[in-house]
Amino acid sequence: MSIPMTLIIFGASGDLTARKLVPSLYHLYRKKRLPDELQVLGVSRSPLSDDGFRDRLATSAREFVSNEWDETSWREFAQRLHYVAADASRPIAVEEKLRLLEDPADGRSPSASAIPGGNVSPTPSAGRRLYYLSVSPDLYAPVVDGLGTAGMTRSLGESWRRLIVEKPFGKDQSSAKAFNATLARHFEESQIYRIDHYLGKETVQNILVFRFANTLFEPLWNNNYVDHVQITVSEAVKVGSRGDYYDNSGVLRDMMQNHLLMLLTFIAMESPSRFEATALRNEKLKVLDSIAIRSLAEARDALRVGQYEGYHREKGVAPESRTPTYAALELSVENWRWRGVPFYLRTGKAMRRRMSEIVVQFRCPPHLMFKLPPDQELQCNRLSIRVQPDEGIHINFQSKVPDTPTTDLRPTDLEFSYKDAYPDHPIPEAYERLLLDALNGDASLFMRSDEIERAWAIVDPFVQVSTERSPESYPIGSDGPTGAEALLKRSGRGWLSLCR
Ligand code: BG6
Repeated sequence: MSIPMTLIIFGASGDLTARKLVPSLYHLYRKKRLPDELQVLGVSRSPLSDDGFRDRLATSAREFVSNEWDETSWREFAQRLHYVAADASRPIAVEEKLRLLEDPADGRSPSASAIPGGNVSPTPSAGRRLYYLSVSPDLYAPVVDGLGTAGMTRSLGESWRRLIVEKPFGKDQSSAKAFNATLARHFEESQIYRIDHYLGKETVQNILVFRFANTLFEPLWNNNYVDHVQITVSEAVKVGSRGDYYDNSGVLRDMMQNHLLMLLTFIAMESPSRFEATALRNEKLKVLDSIAIRSLAEARDALRVGQYEGYHREKGVAPESRTPTYAALELSVENWRWRGVPFYLRTGKAMRRRMSEIVVQFRCPPHLMFKLPPDQELQCNRLSIRVQPDEGIHINFQSKVPDTPTTDLRPTDLEFSYKDAYPDHPIPEAYERLLLDALNGDASLFMRSDEIERAWAIVDPFVQVSTERSPESYPIGSDGPTGAEALLKRSGRGWLSLCR
């Protein structure tokens, strides 16, 4: 008989459950990838029956799974959804409901009942449990402490206990260390799955395949041939309903410390010996360890911030807020491979378009034997990895324009587009892969405590100087503040336009 398995979502009435988690689980169910024994238990404070929970999720799922929606399969899938109203930091009610799900007969036995002092019975249940922290960040520590105190965190052989944590992992290095210490009191590091959903994106994983399953580019992937790297994550959306959270966080904490740095590690890392959690995370950590930590003066020099027009009128945002919604910065990776190659990172909200892309700009030929017209500059080789949308890879190189009286050059693109290459394999939601990996015990695409702490050490000086002055205002729908241009211009480089 298979061992019962439950995904327990704390904060089940929130946006993430409705928009991402349940639609992803439903997709996995339709693809027949969910373990047969998996049940899902939603936990939040609002009183709701199992059926009430299912109805609520059906409404949101219809919207978020759109063209994949099928009433019959949803009804089958929804039988796996359950709910319990509970204070997440005092999980006795959760334990009782879990025992019922894991073994309906045992669930009513005295072993599952509460014992004095707020703990549940020390008799561990035989079920496998994946806890998902999707509550507000100030509840992370109380929930983890609650689970630990209730004796619900210890794995016993095959009856594992795991925990998925959503970002933010602290708001600086010291709070991240404190949170990691709380986690470590109740869970082994191997039980913890810290999500950066960018690592669940197919095109981000493809960076590793592109680099390490091919030989073509690896010989060029270093400071002998690469001039600089640009990493862009531009969003068209504004802060929306998250003004409260965002105004206390800002773009550096919200995007730079996690998603952009993770993209950088994938581009800059050495080849791990295996596609496996420890090997992969060791290599990512080595890159983070090689990034020079800026002094405050250096951070001021290497950072440009902006705020979109009208931001301070957003709901939840302070009227005089200096919180940046755009940041561009320069990092250097101090190792043999990358010494002297600047990494430019930029990200912002309310920009011209949604576009995440990594551009590796190669050096120009040492000598050009062709004569260019006075108004033409040579565009040197460039490799663009488009993370989203129009997922794919472009290689830009010079070609000869045919049938002209002189040898005229023009840049042209070699293109690989996911949509064209894999018309029958639409790109799935990042959470599908991540949920499945956590259920299977594969932590390769999750972050370890040391990575998180080092990433904060890199970003902390930038955060510290980012609000010293009012950020430069930029129009909604633009490429960001014009001041960001100066960051590259001083070395004769320039940001690539968002509209290429
Ligand atoms: C989240 C940030 O981590 O990533 C959001 O908190 C941001 O502010 C989002 O909008 C972007 O993710 P994606 O997958 O839409 O690029």
